[in-house]
Amino acid sequence: MLAPSWLTSGQDFVWRPYCQHKTASPPLPVVGARGCRLLLADGRELVDGIASWWTAAHGYGHPHIAARVRAQLDTLSHVAFGGLAHEPAYTLAPRLAAMLPGDLRRVFFVESGSVAVEVALKMALQSAYQRGQRHRRKVIAFEGAYHGDTFATMALCDPVDGMHRAFRGLGVEAVHLPIPRPGDDFEARFAEHAGEAACAIVEPLVQCAGGMRMHDDEALRRLRRACDEHGVLLVFDEIATGFYRTGAPFAMHRAGVTPDIVCVGKALTGGTLPLAAAIATDAIFSAFWDDDPLLALQHGPTYMANPLACAAAHASLDLFERGDYAAKVAHLEARLREGLEPLLHRPHVRDVRVLGAIGAVEMEPGTAPASDAFATRGAFIRPLRLASADVVYLMPPLVISDEDLDLLLAALDAALG
Ligand SMILES: Cc1ncc(COP(=O)(O)O)c(C=O)c1O
Repeated sequence: MLAPSWLTSGQDFVWRPYCQHKTASPPLPVVGARGCRLLLADGRELVDGIASWWTAAHGYGHPHIAARVRAQLDTLSHVAFGGLAHEPAYTLAPRLAAMLPGDLRRVFFVESGSVAVEVALKMALQSAYQRGQRHRRKVIAFEGAYHGDTFATMALCDPVDGMHRAFRGLGVEAVHLPIPRPGDDFEARFAEHAGEAACAIVEPLVQCAGGMRMHDDEALRRLRRACDEHGVLLVFDEIATGFYRTGAPFAMHRAGVTPDIVCVGKALTGGTLPLAAAIATDAIFSAFWDDDPLLALQHGPTYMANPLACAAAHASLDLFERGDYAAKVAHLEARLREGLEPLLHRPHVRDVRVLGAIGAVEMEPGTAPASDAFATRGAFIRPLRLASADVVYLMPPLVISDEDLDLLLAALDAALG
């Protein structure tokens, strides 16, 4: 393929994400995206197997989202959120709260998932401090976790298998426990650290970037009970699992366990504009309610609650409300199971896992085909490469057609063959 001139002229200036520039193939030049397909500069179309890092739940270029963002652009594209308010955010917050169980209704908007997790940690640590529990400075996290790329969130990621090993020991003080499994001693291990912990954080049901590792509802029930017993706040990072990825509006609904704080992002705007949030209970909010301005939550990103992003989120929520996404995901789950389970007997394959619209094939480290092997078969698939395993996964737009899903499955089948 002849690379477009903007790619050749710009490539020595752009630092790509998670990229070893010395050995990486050049990126695929994308000139448009519609539905579940990426349009490349040479006219080829690829079915997107990973929905732009799991954001594009409704596919690309959805006319309803585009119309709402365009209308917002004509009215108010941005205004600082300090001392000023705007309708898109003030109507989005109650709308999000209405989707959540219990009194999870204090919504703090930010621009990325990592920052939402940072804010959740600040809510937990600062509220413990302000309640006089100044010894609670630790965070309990889990092996296999991924919570972002900023310093505090890197400290929560798996310290051995994750990509942020070089930063071990920096950021917040985190303790990593194995996800509770039947017959283990989780409660005892939790109790060892619980007295010094402000919160525990977990990606409920699926640890995504850490290898699409899945656990059951009971693990979350045990974690909830342990947190309650020791006065530790429970944070669910639903940045990847939220908005029907597991089949329910949030994984917390599927599991029937309610946290004290939830982080959301990614599919919130349907992959259109950056927006995320940390959403806390009234009880946590009340720890900041005081006459002293210094006891306020000390955070406020410049672009927080950007009106265009909030308009995109409203449109995305409209679509979730109008379409039967639970049924769509149940269908995808069955198709993914049917398509991926036969791969279990292929060379280097160690495990096949499916939950909701997430299908993963775990392979020996260093054995997963490169993205190019999928692209030549019409699919965009980007395996996760961890120290302990390669994981080839599909997390397509939730609206993907049977034909496009078949193409992804066939590409995977052929590339692994
Ligand atoms: C569970 C989880 N938390 C946090 C993040 C970080 O989000 P962002 O990339 O928007 O900072 C991700 C991103 O993949 C994620 O999967």
